[in-house]
Amino acid sequence: MERKIAYSAVQPSGNLTIGNYVGAVRNWVEMQSEYECYYAIANLHAITVRQDPAELRRRTLELAALYIACGLDPEKCALYVQSQVPAHAELCWVLNTVTAVGEASRMTQFKDKSQKHADNVNMGLMDYPVLMAADILLYQADYVPVGADQKQHVELARDLAIRFNNRYGETFTVPEPLIRKGVAKIASLQDPAKKMSKSEAENPNASVFLSDDRDTVLRKFKRAVTDSLGAVRYSEEQPGIANLINIYCAFRGCTPEEVEREFKGKGYGDFKLAVGEAVADVLDPIREEQRRLLADKSYLGDLLARGRERAAAAARKTLSKVYRKVGFYQG
Ligand code: TRP
Repeated sequence: MERKIAYSAVQPSGNLTIGNYVGAVRNWVEMQSEYECYYAIANLHAITVRQDPAELRRRTLELAALYIACGLDPEKCALYVQSQVPAHAELCWVLNTVTAVGEASRMTQFKDKSQKHADNVNMGLMDYPVLMAADILLYQADYVPVGADQKQHVELARDLAIRFNNRYGETFTVPEPLIRKGVAKIASLQDPAKKMSKSEAENPNASVFLSDDRDTVLRKFKRAVTDSLGAVRYSEEQPGIANLINIYCAFRGCTPEEVEREFKGKGYGDFKLAVGEAVADVLDPIREEQRRLLADKSYLGDLLARGRERAAAAARKTLSKVYRKVGFYQG
């Protein structure tokens, strides 16, 4: 039986947190055995806000190495850098002609980002979701694993696919968003009412990054906000502790009840140390492997070149079909 196709991408901006690891990275790794997966480092999307060029290049490689270190297997999936497959920009252009200015300007993230970057509301920012639709539709993806914040963008991709198919004849698979349920959201260690943020700008102890070394991880958990009730219990009255329990479960693979039992009668100090160790035990080997990959740029380059070839072949096929449908001369 033919495997279903999954597509996702991540921007090489910001630092990945343990929340991204549990919610996204680990999911990508799991999906690669069941689906035919295409995963991109979305650097075309990244430049819709201002980037430092040297840093963008560095982060692109770091992120690729990180994903491989987390278990993405370049033999099983196509991991590639978006700008290396020109078909993305080419299909984006065609899709622009079936996108209404009104629907692009109504996107929630566009409105948010326009406010946040009021001095740089560029055309790319508004075109961001159309480029994302091009990403997805190029690979005829059935499923798009994303966070809830990207759902609206996948819906636009569906709308554009349907519209194009109606206008020009059956061309694109209509994709479905795959929003993981059942994984607890990981909150800030300093304010459990907030999501753990990718930005270091706020409170430096609020987020645990995949790049944090063991001591940093342990220190951040030691300083995590708890409460004065003094019992390791999974309850709504104890959001800080509940968040730590979620983290412990995500990294040790256990249930909240098991955690309550394990730490019955123990203090918060012991518990916070145990959570820190559970996380550091997973992150240490990942960081080590990432460092090893980054030290061997030609090997990493080879892996990305292979991903790019596989992606480009699939993308070409769709683009050529699109060009035929819209009436472009192809020689
Ligand atoms: N916009 C996505 C994010 O910020 C990244 C992305 C780009 C993406 N292209 C995509 C996700 C295609 C899924 C499919 O997370």
